[in-house]
Amino acid sequence: MTQRVLTGITTTGTPHLGNYVGAIRPAIAASRESGVESFFFLADYHALIKCDEPDRIERSRLEIAATWLAAGLDTQRVTFYRQSDIPETTELTWLLTCVTAKGQMNRAHAYKAATDANEAAGEDIDANISMGLYSYPILMAADILLFNAHRVPVGRDQVQHIEMARDVAQRFNHLFGRGRELFVLPRAEVEEDVATLPGLDGRKMSKSYDNTIPLFEGGPKALKEAVARIVTDSRLPGEAKDPDGSSLVTIHDAFASTEQRAALRADLRAGLAWGEAKARSVALIESHVGPMRARYEELMAHPERVEEALLEGARKARAVALPLMRELRDAVGLRAMVAVSRPAAKQAPARAAGKALPEFKQYRENGLFFFKLTAADDRVLLQSAGLAEGREAGGWVKRLKTEGAAALAEAPVQRGEGVDAAEVEAALSALVAAQA
Ligand code: TRP
Repeated sequence: MTQRVLTGITTTGTPHLGNYVGAIRPAIAASRESGVESFFFLADYHALIKCDEPDRIERSRLEIAATWLAAGLDTQRVTFYRQSDIPETTELTWLLTCVTAKGQMNRAHAYKAATDANEAAGEDIDANISMGLYSYPILMAADILLFNAHRVPVGRDQVQHIEMARDVAQRFNHLFGRGRELFVLPRAEVEEDVATLPGLDGRKMSKSYDNTIPLFEGGPKALKEAVARIVTDSRLPGEAKDPDGSSLVTIHDAFASTEQRAALRADLRAGLAWGEAKARSVALIESHVGPMRARYEELMAHPERVEEALLEGARKARAVALPLMRELRDAVGLRAMVAVSRPAAKQAPARAAGKALPEFKQYRENGLFFFKLTAADDRVLLQSAGLAEGREAGGWVKRLKTEGAAALAEAPVQRGEGVDAAEVEAALSALVAAQA
């Protein structure tokens, strides 16, 4: 069976050389393998969580889409689209939100990190945290499950999110699948052997360290200037140099053939000047990046071509998403009102199985809080008076459940019509026993 591989691309910032080597190039190479069907999309709904500047959102989407296309993404093979062109994504997000445990979202790394920071700063733990950030993993689960992806290549920091998607898929299947797997359970795929490129200062290349080499931005001149700033040791021309552990050599190697790698090492050991090694690296990188940059600039000058490619991708993606969404709506009960079913009669046997026990129900009416105890056949065994506080009602329910008939004398309740004390006592004992 073909494996469906899906990944989202965060549309913030401008891609640098590290993004190309660490993410873009390997993803495009993987999409060319046989037996895989790839879905790559711009996670622009996610981008809104972190950015409220419309012009930056717009610009970044275009730059990133143009980068992937210029880098050789084949839109015939790969379904390449914008998340925000797939309205089913938000629709599914809601269905998943309704079956996601709030407690699980409390434990999501991004949210935890934000609350921890607030706590450390002595602020309210939820200060400046939007519901978007809080629900981030649910939107991401919808991205994945909507296409029934098997494999999701991501960075290590995203693994928890994929596990959450897997959990919610499992819960949804269990609740609504009636024995069928509505969702494929996705698996995170962390690329172990993809090189993370060092930046100018030797730390991982990252915008947050301000140590990046631009991919296209600024042309060959900017590339040359950035490479000139890569930190090397102070050995002079003619002195033997150790190529191992040099950021320059690692960056060079990310674009070099086996022969080119060996040659640079031998030449450095024989005294090649760092300046020469840098010039050689710039020429090598430029030989790969130059042709892509030309395509990139062409696309940036013609955004309508990028738009067209993405809309075509959205058409392909929705052809997959729509039929599944239709099934999901049906599964949860959002159905056309044609064949009028009688839920009470139809579902009674299934319900009864899970409801052999009497049950407490709490509700609110005219500003007061009530609870009642009902038998398995829905007859009211106990009815509370109206209470001012929800907490009070909850407290009585808890006492009756744990103490049973012993709490009856004090509780603000009456027996239901035609219900005798023995039946109430038996019902409460059954509940106490079930708690134990
Ligand atoms: N959150 C991912 C990141 O920051 C991007 C993303 C959004 C994604 N939706 C996704 C990745 C679905 C994989 C699958 O990298």
